[in-house]
Amino acid sequence: MDKPIGVMDSGVGGLTVVRELNRQLPKEEIVYFGDTLRCPYGSRSPEEVKDYTWEMTKFLQNLHVKMLVIACNTATAFVLEEIKTELDIPVVGVIHPGARSAIKVTKNNRVGVIGTEGTINSGAYFDALKNINPDIVVESVACPLFVPMVENGSLSGLETEKTIRSSLSGFSNFDMDTLILGCTHYPLLREAIQQVVGPEVQLICSGIETAREVSTVLHHSSLLFTGEREPAHRLFTSGRPALFARMAKQWLDVPFQIEPAVLSQSMVTHVHGD
Ligand code: DGL
Repeated sequence: MDKPIGVMDSGVGGLTVVRELNRQLPKEEIVYFGDTLRCPYGSRSPEEVKDYTWEMTKFLQNLHVKMLVIACNTATAFVLEEIKTELDIPVVGVIHPGARSAIKVTKNNRVGVIGTEGTINSGAYFDALKNINPDIVVESVACPLFVPMVENGSLSGLETEKTIRSSLSGFSNFDMDTLILGCTHYPLLREAIQQVVGPEVQLICSGIETAREVSTVLHHSSLLFTGEREPAHRLFTSGRPALFARMAKQWLDVPFQIEPAVLSQSMVTHVHGD
């Protein structure tokens, strides 16, 4: 079907999911909304996260998306089920795909989870992992400093490593072999995180498994685009376009063009690949 897939996040983090979607479904057009202006969501109340996520949903619905990917763990934890029930198009979140990946990879059944305060306090990963395998031992740590670091483009260097090391100190007595990056911003810090936890710990990014799920859903619902094309993705941000475009370029490896657009009262900027 010749309609785009809608993808949303509080900022640039969901681009890590877009990258995987691009890789696995190169002909599909993506319309992305990153709510950079109101990022981070992780320290906001569930009500705020719900309201903002619904605004993004409506924005993307107006662009006639055939499916919705909530590429934000915090929003997935608070509002996925509600949106799934209300919409008549398929809706996919990132928590179950991430949990499934971790279960496939772990050998010692000890899985660490890092995410925003909202995601960790919701217990959504704990529940998802335990539902799949009750024997899994889970240790969860909130890392509220990571998202601002990513949004500022501080992906490496001494300060970044120092912050990561102190944020992950809660795992020092937990012999995990697998660590879920339970926030879509964190894969952008992947190298620095791997450096801190050591090579023996497998890092799980939910993007790969989420893209697999999107592909399966599109296939089963006969929604796949079946023609030939190199799609032009459209990326919207409610924040500063220059920084967003810089991060998007770095992560997606596609050219961008910036246009203004409007989301309810706030000005957003429309960035699309050409
Ligand atoms: N990237 C988001 C997540 O996966 C949200 C981060 C935030 O805004 O705090 O949770």
